Amino acid sequence: MGKGFFISKTLTIAGVIVGAGAVATIIALSVVYSQEKAKNQEVKPTNGGTSPPTTTQVTPWDPWDHYRLPDSLSPVSYNITLWPRLEASRSTGLYIFTGRSAVVFECKKPTDLILIHSNKLNLTLINGHHARLTGLDGATPPNIKDSWLQPVTQFLVIQLDGRLQAGNRYELYSDFTGELADDLGGFYRSEYFVGEIKKVVATTQMQPTHARKAFPCFDEPAMKAVFHMTLLHPHGTVALANGMNVASVNVTVDGQDVTQTSFQATPIMSTYLLAFVVSEFDFIRSPEGEKVLIRIWARKQAIEEGQGDYALEKTGPILEFFEKYYTTDYPLNKSDQIALPDFSAGAMENWGLITYRETALLFNNASSSNADKEWIATVISHELAHMWFGNLVTMRWWNDLWLNEGFATYVSYLGANSAEPTWNYTDLIVMKEVYKVMSVDALASSHPLSTKEQDIMQPAQISELFDSITYSKGAAILRMLSEFLTEPVFARGLSTYLNTFKYGNTVYQDLWNHLQTAANLAPDLELPASIEVIMNRWILQMGFPLVSIDTTNGHITQNHFLLDPESVVDRPSEFQYEWIVPIKWIKSGTEQTPFWLKSKTDTHPPLKMIGSDWVLANTKVSGFFRVNYDTANWERLLTQLSTNHEVIPVINRAQIVDDAFNLARAKTVSTKLALRTTLYLQKEREYMPWEMADRNLGYFFLMFDRSEVYGPMRAYLRKQVMPLFNHFQAITANWTKIPDNHLDQYTQVRAISLACSSGVPVCEALMTSWFQAWMKTPEKNPIHPNLRQTVYCGALAAGGVEEWNFAWKMYKEAPIASEAEKLMYGLTCTREPWLIQRYLTYCLDPEKIRKQDATFTMVYIAGNVVGQSLVWDFVRANWNYIYNDYGSGSFSFGRLIEGITRRFSSEFELKQLQQFIKENSDQGLGSASQAVEQALERTKANIKWVAENKADVFQWFTDNSKLI
Ligand SMILES: *[C@@H]1O[C@H](CO)[C@@H](O)[C@H](O)[C@H]1NC(C)=O
Ligand SMILES: *[C@@H]1O[C@H](CO)[C@@H](O)[C@H](O)[C@H]1NC(C)=O
Ligand SMILES: *[C@@H]1O[C@H](CO)[C@@H](O)[C@H](O)[C@H]1NC(C)=O
Ligand SMILES: *[C@@H]1O[C@H](CO)[C@@H](O)[C@H](O)[C@H]1NC(C)=O
Ligand SMILES: [Zn+2]
Repeated sequence: MGKGFFISKTLTIAGVIVGAGAVATIIALSVVYSQEKAKNQEVKPTNGGTSPPTTTQVTPWDPWDHYRLPDSLSPVSYNITLWPRLEASRSTGLYIFTGRSAVVFECKKPTDLILIHSNKLNLTLINGHHARLTGLDGATPPNIKDSWLQPVTQFLVIQLDGRLQAGNRYELYSDFTGELADDLGGFYRSEYFVGEIKKVVATTQMQPTHARKAFPCFDEPAMKAVFHMTLLHPHGTVALANGMNVASVNVTVDGQDVTQTSFQATPIMSTYLLAFVVSEFDFIRSPEGEKVLIRIWARKQAIEEGQGDYALEKTGPILEFFEKYYTTDYPLNKSDQIALPDFSAGAMENWGLITYRETALLFNNASSSNADKEWIATVISHELAHMWFGNLVTMRWWNDLWLNEGFATYVSYLGANSAEPTWNYTDLIVMKEVYKVMSVDALASSHPLSTKEQDIMQPAQISELFDSITYSKGAAILRMLSEFLTEPVFARGLSTYLNTFKYGNTVYQDLWNHLQTAANLAPDLELPASIEVIMNRWILQMGFPLVSIDTTNGHITQNHFLLDPESVVDRPSEFQYEWIVPIKWIKSGTEQTPFWLKSKTDTHPPLKMIGSDWVLANTKVSGFFRVNYDTANWERLLTQLSTNHEVIPVINRAQIVDDAFNLARAKTVSTKLALRTTLYLQKEREYMPWEMADRNLGYFFLMFDRSEVYGPMRAYLRKQVMPLFNHFQAITANWTKIPDNHLDQYTQVRAISLACSSGVPVCEALMTSWFQAWMKTPEKNPIHPNLRQTVYCGALAAGGVEEWNFAWKMYKEAPIASEAEKLMYGLTCTREPWLIQRYLTYCLDPEKIRKQDATFTMVYIAGNVVGQSLVWDFVRANWNYIYNDYGSGSFSFGRLIEGITRRFSSEFELKQLQQFIKENSDQGLGSASQAVEQALERTKANIKWVAENKADVFQWFTDNSKLI
């Protein structure tokens, strides 16, 4: 899934005041913890019950009590006809679909039992049974003895009175009805309005285990088959599926006139990659005569306004980039990209028919920002990367999801960079993936990338794998691997891997083997061990090393880095938390020969420094580790920063800031040292160091923005950001132009958001005047799209009900989803408690705020210092409602808890939290249980951190905020 769990891009305005920069991390945290919680063993489910018993049964399990399919049967092809009704039934009020499906399968081992997945489908009885079995090629099928549905394991169970014979083929036919619910999974419905008229779209999200909700199927990734699809749909609507539509005819079924569209058979593929959509959408396409037909589909109005143009312009080149990169042609004859108004993830890589959230595909020059554009290029690139890696060659089971998603995440940077070569986009992976996931992976409760096949059974366990470790750490370690192998060797190994396993399934060792072969053929590549030996340490044990360099004697050591030094690691590792670490380094501005750290401690004589020379390790942060130095080397680095920071590469300037702050949290260096890395920022004009400083100071603001530290802290930030603000004011001719360079555009936004949040007086006036100008001419928004998020937030914070109501009206009327998203965020910034309160009630009303957006809104409100306690009260007051809506849902519930408690740092808040847990102990906290526990742990850690650091931090900011 494309960014399955990020859901929405991190809003570009991290802004220390609102602390939204922390959101991505918070989402990551909650998911990781809930995953840990789910690491329970397979428990025998009760027959038809909804919750498994907690005690282990002594009786042997029946086959249908296991979650995995037996290996006796193997699907060959399906013939599926589905008919979604786009109007609710007059009698029941339900939206439904009907369907019939025939699956041809081969018997591999004799058996008298057929298990096939089926979830929430009502199967029509045929001769008293749920399906009909026929034999093919003259095979005689046994009779069906009994059949029933097994809801817990989501099986249709068919017992036979004789055995199916190995080598024979059979066909199983079924006829069924399902609900076309608005639940964002399986075959579901999305809605939007054209004027007053409601339009319904029937669409799908199968990954990971929802295909079984659309038709009975062998719903495991290794159960690949060929799919023949037919869709029945109302006249005037268009039907899409993985294959190209081959024929549309008008037919009458059950007295209704409908169009019947059939599609080209798919290649051999996994069920989770199926997709079909019925809509009134329109499209634009690539020119006739090209090898691959590319189409962008969306609401008619969006297409009319040209919102698909950017996606169309970039899809072709990115597809070609990947064909070259993999040295393998795109396996299909078309690639449809479709933007859906309701979509749970960011996008989904269905083969030939990729589905997207509107914000991940639609772009409009007049109202979308450079961040919106970047997000679109990234998501398209991520999904197209899967067309080979994931779709053509698929992991055998979900435990190897990290390889699939980590890979797509890594190469999405290469693909997007090829489409937008001026962006320096490949560098951003350091901030967006590497450092983001390090904050999660530095916890004692993190988990290894790779999981054992038998530990992942239940659908909930599979869903929980879609976390930031899987995506971002996967990407980070594959990037490290590609860096030490070199990109050509890496790409060569990939190419033979894809060719060997196309249309099949693999485990991660298969990739290591192919990369090893490629490495062996590279004459001057020297590795300290085999790829498998090196990489196993990175994927089979959680966490990453802190590499400490002593430049007085050249000693170098590694330790498992933990953010909380007092936390206890109870997960054993066969490698004792040691890694084989590739180290690239710089001496006083000059790149040195890289070396490997292969043991706990070592001496590398060239690291010994004399005079004013300094060492900086992990050039461009290509390795997945943090670095510490002896005090004298830190001092020399700080001196270099303050005298001529440009001698240090920009990524490594960002690294110094982030490493220092994290080492300070872990009590490895002093908080003062960390703060001192921000002193040079007065001269910094590049994006990445500012971004890292913003993120790290964000924690200080969360902890101290309700205390006396706030004043000096704000004054310090103001002093540091003033030169940046003035710089951009000058180069943009007093804010009338936008810098050309992509990253400079981000820095400009940072300059404004930090200046306004730290109280630079002209800044607030500027934002308010821009917003007022818009209010005077609502049809013509004069604010540049890049700046809108920041300006909306600033103007609404400074304004009152009039501004708020105007923004709300604009939100409801926004012609493009990305504009609505910016306003949705801006609305959370008001300082008026009653407006916040009213906005909170809107969150529980899907007519006002779509379900896919509700928890985000609440979390953003919690980022507002005025909103914090209001959200906390609101969530407690509406607990039952929220619990029912989100309690069993996968990610958003934990994220909500995580988000609304992240400021907690006082004894009083701790008591409230404990009280809350106590009050809800009988009904439980659902999928937020771990998030709540984590919040407890974090609150305690925050209390400790504040107690230990407050006086020093106050003093430091006071001393350093003086304008000299
Ligand atoms: C699929 O089934 C329909 C009848 O339901 C039949 O007409 C059609 O030929 C079948 N297609 C394939 C490819 O088997
Ligand atoms: C399936 O059957 C159940 C029980 O009869 C019924 O409540 C439900 O509405 C049916 N679902 C659909 C989609 O027809
Ligand atoms: C099906 O019927 C509709 C409405 O009568 C008509 O517009 C359309 O052209 C017909 N399509 C085909 C393939 O005959
Ligand atoms: C962006 O890339 C160009 C060309 O590779 C390079 O000269 C420039 O320094 C890079 N900018 C940043 C901020 O890294
Ligand atoms: Zn993906």
